Formats: sequence, C-alpha cells, structure tokens
Amino acid sequence: MVDYDGRLHQVYAQGRALPADSLDTWMQTAAGFAPVTRPLTVLDLGCGIGRFTPSLAETFGGPVYGVEPSAGMRQQAIEHASHPDVTYLEGSAEAIPLPDESCDLVWLFLTIHHWSDPLQGFREVNRVLRPGGTVVLRTQFGDRMPDLYWYRYFPSARQVDATMYLPFDEVQALAARAGLIAEKEPRWVDAPEVRTHRATYERLKLRAFSTFEHLAEDELDRGFAEFERDATADPEREVPAFPAGVLLLRRPSS
Ligand SMILES: C[S@@+](CC[C@H](N)C(=O)[O-])C[C@H]1O[C@@H](n2cnc3c(N)ncnc32)[C@H](O)[C@@H]1O
Repeated sequence: MVDYDGRLHQVYAQGRALPADSLDTWMQTAAGFAPVTRPLTVLDLGCGIGRFTPSLAETFGGPVYGVEPSAGMRQQAIEHASHPDVTYLEGSAEAIPLPDESCDLVWLFLTIHHWSDPLQGFREVNRVLRPGGTVVLRTQFGDRMPDLYWYRYFPSARQVDATMYLPFDEVQALAARAGLIAEKEPRWVDAPEVRTHRATYERLKLRAFSTFEHLAEDELDRGFAEFERDATADPEREVPAFPAGVLLLRRPSS
C-alpha cells in the first residue's frame, strides 16, 4: 500500500502539476463521455489534492463530491482546490459516503490501483450512479504498459508498474461483476504533462509517483544521478509522449 499521508501529499501538487492544455483535454474527454444533460452531479473518487475537482464543477455545472481517504491529500484539496460547488469528503471506494443513485458521472483518475478491494469499489460506484450514468476510468493496464523512456534509469520500475496495475481483462471483468458495462477496448487520450528531458527529470525527482515508493534507496540514488547528468547535458530534448489509457463504463439504464 502507498502512504499518501507521509511524504506524498507534500510533493504531489508540484510533482504532478497539470498544464492547462492537458486539463482542458481531460475535461473535453469527460464531456465527450458524460450524459449530455446539465447540470450533472459528479463524484471524483480518490480525488487526491483536487487536481480535477474544481474543473469538473465548471464543466458540468452541478455539485461535485471529492472523496478521498488520505487526510493529508484531502487537506491540500480543501486549502488549494476549493470551489463553491465542490464538497470534499472523507471516504474510500469501498465505502462511498453518498446515497444510492445520487451521481451522473464518476471520475476515477489513477486511483483504482490503490483500492484494497476493487470489486467492492466498483460495486459502490455502481450503487451511487444513477441508471444510465457513466464512469470515466483513467488507469494503466498491467498488460498494456507504455514503454516510458525514463524506465532506463530505474531497472525495477517497469516491473513495479506492471505489477501495480491490473490487466485490462481483469478490470473489465471486475466492473462487469459489479454490474457496470465496460467498453471492449480502452481509448487512448493524448494529454502530455511534460515535454522535455529536463522538465521530466525536475518533475520525477520529487518522487510524487507511487512507482518510486516501491524502489530501493540505492536504485533511486543511482537512477536520479544518471538521469540528472543526462538531463543537464541535453535539457531541451523532446521526450516521447504516451497516450493515457481510459476505459468508459456505464451503469445500464433500468
Ligand atoms: C495517484 S493519486 C490520484 C489522485 C487524483 N485522482 C489525481 O489524479 O490527482 C491516487 C489517490 O487514490 C487515493 N486512494 C487510495 N486508496 C483509495 C481507496 N481505497 N479509495 C479511494 N481512493 C483511494 C489515494 O489516497 C490518492 O489520493
């Protein structure tokens, strides 16, 4: 398990900052998948520090609930991502503090790999969704991992990531067991967050990605030293961008 109440909540805002164009792309993606009526009630489950939560309120015009188990992450959201239509709540996927059939859209961004019980989490998502409601699930799939260029600095990182994320068929099967219909294939969204070698190094060295929580200190020290040398030698080199995997789920209309 990754402890977001330790170091991570303090570095997350800087280490995972979203450029404005990337945030726009994500909101257009959400709007393209969501029911067309407005306003919509949205659940941002595992909302962290609220990177998306106020924008979801702006995009859909209705109340947004940001549910987050880590007190540290939630406190960052309350302090830095407030919005009149957003309420941050303590809770988890396995016990969502909202009534049955109260939401039109559930936004799951890089959170399901942290859930202790994904089947129970999907059951809870199904419970709080209105019939016909939508889930936008952004995750990596353990069997379809991108070949991130910075893995070369950390020999264990690729395997750590592949193990952390569930394979595509398993995500789909768990969602189906919970009553949610999943699309047959993931979609791929192009919303790069960093574009140059040096900027990638500056971002990753903050270790705001859970991958680094699973690596030994000596691997981290060696990897970041080599990464820094390369990034300093060729700071503006453009780095390959990988599209982000998204799976669309629906609660069937009754
Ligand atoms: C990588 S962060 C993503 C945060 C946010 N969605 C974002 O994109 O910035 C993962 C988040 O999932 C939360 N999380 C961990 N276990 C969870 C659970 N069982 N239910 C809901 N969220 C959980 C963590 O506390 C953390 O804030």
